[in-house]
Order: sequence, then structure tokens, then C-alpha cells
Amino acid sequence: IFQKQFVYEEVTSTQTVAHELLMEHDEPLLILSEIQTVGRGRFKRPWASKRDTGLWMSLVLHPNISYQQIATFNLFISIAIAEAIKNVTQLEPKIKWPNDVYINDKKVCGFLTEINGDSDGVHTIICGIGININHTIEDFDESIRDTATSFKLESKKETDRYIFIKALIDSIEHYYEAFLSQPFKELKEIYKGYSMIWDRTLRYTEGNKQIYGKAVDLKDDGVLVVLDDTGERHHFISADIEV
Ligand code: BTN
Repeated sequence: IFQKQFVYEEVTSTQTVAHELLMEHDEPLLILSEIQTVGRGRFKRPWASKRDTGLWMSLVLHPNISYQQIATFNLFISIAIAEAIKNVTQLEPKIKWPNDVYINDKKVCGFLTEINGDSDGVHTIICGIGININHTIEDFDESIRDTATSFKLESKKETDRYIFIKALIDSIEHYYEAFLSQPFKELKEIYKGYSMIWDRTLRYTEGNKQIYGKAVDLKDDGVLVVLDDTGERHHFISADIEV
């Protein structure tokens, strides 16, 4: 899919570069950088992106789908990332709905999905993926040392970043084709097999709303159903979940 690839030494954020490049290119794009000086996460959080540690990548895709269909994109991408990690490292990655991948209850990957569209639907997806590969504990800021991890910290060995990138791109291509051709329903059991949020009381925040509850269902359209302590059901299309 990604015949046009852009590899940089240093950028502010591959996500920002992606937004600029998509103005000049109509085909799918892959943008990688060794360093990001202003890497960003969801909720305007900074994302540390040092040299030789992880994978900082943005993808530009042109799906032509409805706004309703885009809701499950993150679910397909999560499976693609988890499967690539599992195959290359033999570790046990778990998906934290909607946008993270964890290993042993610590975050190893986060991604964000931005879209451009109009009244006809979604025309462009700009998906930024950050994966911690060969970080030692000192490579992480002190503030996240308890909650972040890398392949190296979990497996006690280095992973060849280029072998992993190749596996990840193959996996994303596979699951992106699946996203375009299959309803999420058909992959729901695979997704649930990777999911880490079942049967755990967790804090869910979306906008001003905050509840403690247990995820009890993931609907075919990607909506997560959470049961709070009082037995009330809440529906989330996205949320910040505290583990
Ligand atoms: C999150 O967990 O909050 C999402 C993190 C996304 C980080 C990636 S790294 C490549 C791309 N460029 C960015 O500035 N952010 C994303």
C-alpha cells in the first residue's frame, strides 16, 4: 500500500509532516523519523521520541468511507500492532481500548487517528504510531518510569527496529485491507483475545464525564459498554482509561 515512504533524521512530529505532505500527494504515505522534537500524544500530551529507541511513524490513507465506518479503524489497527509485536518479540501484548498497546500492564505503544473529511464522508486518515522498542529505563522520563515499558525492558534483549518496522507495516496492510472489506464483527473475537480491559474496574474519562466501571461488551460498531458500581450502563466511543 505504502509505495511512497519518507524517512527523516529529525522532524517536529511525523504527524505534522504528514498533514503537510498530504496536500501534495494523493497516494498512501508512510512517514518515519529517527527523532521527533515535538512528538505529541492524545489529549495534547507530549510524546518523547529519542533516537535509536523506538518507532515514530505516521500513515496517510485515503479510504472513502462514512463517518460511521471510521469508528472501528482503531480496533483494526490495534490488532495489527499487537499481532506484529507478538510475532516479532514473542511477548504478550494486550490492547487497551481504544488506542494503546500494553505489555505486563505497562504502555509500550500509543497511537492517534486524525481524519479529514466533508459531507460525503472521511477521505483521509492520518494515523500516528509510537512504539517503545529498545528503551532502557533511563530513556524514559522519570514521570513515566512506572507506567511505560519497551520490548527490551520486557524481553531483556534488543529488537532489530527495521525487522519490526517491516513486520508492522505488513500487519497494518493486512488489517487495513480487512478494515475496508470486512465488518469488525468478524474480528471481534481476535480483538477480545488481545484486550486487557475485561473484568477489571477501571476509571473511564471522556470530556467532563468520569466513572469507575467494568467493560462488559464491545458492540459491532466499536462502542464500548461499561457497567458502573451502581449497575448503570455507559456507552463510550472513545475514552481515557486509567489502569
Ligand atoms: C498516545 O498514546 O497518546 C498517542 C501517541 C502517538 C505518538 C506517535 S509517534 C509518531 C506520531 N507523531 C506524533 O507526534 N505522535 C505520533
